[in-house]
Amino acid sequence: FTIHANQVKAEVKPTMWGVFFEDINMGADGGIYAELVKNRSFEFYKPLMGWTVVPRQVPEGTVVVQNRRESNAANPRYLHISLVNAARGSVGITNEGFRGMGIKKGMKYDFSVMYRVPGTDVKLHAELVNPKGEKIGSATLNLPGNTGTWKKQRISFEATTTEQKAKLSIWFEGNGGVDLDMVSLFPQDTWKNRPGGMRADMVQLLADMKPGFIRFPGGCIVEGHDLATRYQWKKTVGPVEDRQLIVNRWNTEFAHKPAPDYFQSFGLGFFEYFQIAEDIGAEPLPILNCGMACQFNTAEVVPMDELQPYVQDALDLVEFANGDVKTKWGKIRADMGHPAPFNLKMMGIGNENWGPQYVERLKIFTKAIKDKYPFMQLVNSSGTDPNGDRFDYLNGELRKMNADIIDEHYYRRPEWFLQNASRYDNYPRTGSKIFAGEYAAQSDRTVSVNNKNNWQTALSEAAFMTGLERNADVVAMASYAPLFAHAEGWQWTPDLIWVDNLRSYGTPDYQVQKLFSLYKGTDVIAMLQNNEVVAGKDGLYGSAVIDKKTKEIIVKIVNSSDKPQEASFAFEGVSKLAPKATVTTIASRDLEQLNSFDNPLAVSPSDKQAEVKNKKIGLVISPYSFSVVRVKM
Ligand code: AHR
Repeated sequence: FTIHANQVKAEVKPTMWGVFFEDINMGADGGIYAELVKNRSFEFYKPLMGWTVVPRQVPEGTVVVQNRRESNAANPRYLHISLVNAARGSVGITNEGFRGMGIKKGMKYDFSVMYRVPGTDVKLHAELVNPKGEKIGSATLNLPGNTGTWKKQRISFEATTTEQKAKLSIWFEGNGGVDLDMVSLFPQDTWKNRPGGMRADMVQLLADMKPGFIRFPGGCIVEGHDLATRYQWKKTVGPVEDRQLIVNRWNTEFAHKPAPDYFQSFGLGFFEYFQIAEDIGAEPLPILNCGMACQFNTAEVVPMDELQPYVQDALDLVEFANGDVKTKWGKIRADMGHPAPFNLKMMGIGNENWGPQYVERLKIFTKAIKDKYPFMQLVNSSGTDPNGDRFDYLNGELRKMNADIIDEHYYRRPEWFLQNASRYDNYPRTGSKIFAGEYAAQSDRTVSVNNKNNWQTALSEAAFMTGLERNADVVAMASYAPLFAHAEGWQWTPDLIWVDNLRSYGTPDYQVQKLFSLYKGTDVIAMLQNNEVVAGKDGLYGSAVIDKKTKEIIVKIVNSSDKPQEASFAFEGVSKLAPKATVTTIASRDLEQLNSFDNPLAVSPSDKQAEVKNKKIGLVISPYSFSVVRVKM
């Protein structure tokens, strides 16, 4: 292979490799959002889903769900518990958590609750219990009587043992009654120790990738099962008790593994998404509903003469993210603790929407946004079928519109990824850029519940990604999807990162994504084999970049064959090279190899040094391997 360090082909934008976040597979509620209480505000369709009244034989009417829809449409339900000289242990409620609650020994937990006590004082005992019913942590709150308005109290306590599947029991002591809402329990070891925040291990896995952007909140949940359940960012900001819960699109029969208890509390809302993006140094990329519900579901569209509120949501989002604190939405951001702007530069309109209905709606959005915010880069969807008529139609229309960025999605077999490493070699070099916004190799078939994140899928993605990198002048951004999955609550597989109530690990696909992102460089340079790009001959795929900041040449090479291959890398157009190169390799002879909770790094990178002589490096490239070779200039 010859690497021509002085033949720069394209700039690699800092946003080249990013992450795609969607609340699917319990990614948000029950996942990264560290709330342990399921249905804390009693707003699920079945108001006591996740809760049990204890003991079961309390008199009828002791625990009643009340609804104040007229006075509080966002959070109408609460519980009223009647107490007749109740002693501790005689009346209570237990929450089962999201597939149990993961509790850590020695960790402090913040319990909080909103309450009203019309009569005399009530004592509330919050107790964490293990599956045997043994107490593993507890705290008591005194709720003063004669509270006509809603109040909030919180208390912290320490857990005495580690438990994957704890429950929270709340016992009442007193006479009269109590109203309860927003019953909440968070660990204190959240990301950046923010009260009511995110699971630190999950955010850390993202931060470790140094992603260039974070796309949120999806995915199909942007569109919703129907328009009523589309994602509306304005309902996800402000105090958590005012964020209106809705059903998750992945709750429905349209999910491949429906989860009837899957709702969106929006504890992770747009403010938190922007904050995570800022924390991990990623550009925020929000995707907004374009006036169309999921076309795989109800396919509802809003009539054109009622599109304006949707467009206004997009305009107001820019004000929320970037606006002065004196503006309406800028003030809401400031009141939430972030007076500085989030510096939003790009947004997506629509997710996997298609047909003339999409194009006509998109034109209205584009004009309104570009008129007011000409700098805003807009991402447009081109659907899910990269080889079909629908895709061709949309691509044609979007290119006619001079779309900034076209979002292509592909969930395909590993062979497709190998065959498509040259996909972008012949795309137009001018005009619209491409965002490979959702992709993942499917070990079985698209949306099969048997798909695995094995080494074969990851290796084929690595091969494909060399093609994305080589074409960085066309492909501006790329992200694997979906991002997270809970081992006991997923609807879609494969996924980049798997979690349970206490643990998390990156799949082989994650390890590949991470290496591309960490070693993205700043400029693509030519890497040729007999004057041709390295895109599949003998099962080898390669690309090269320089990093002007670290003064390195970085070569990525994939061997998708089952044979070791001798390779020589000759560097031209560079005056000197360091005597040693670092070679970081992920390899496994077993294409079925997985990572797991017990063996999270079974497929993961290891480093070795290679000699550089006369500006050449000789390597034996292992079978089924992906290597990143770095040498200082
Ligand atoms: O990533 C899972 C789903 O796949 C996304 O929600 C959707 O955009 C695509 O069809």
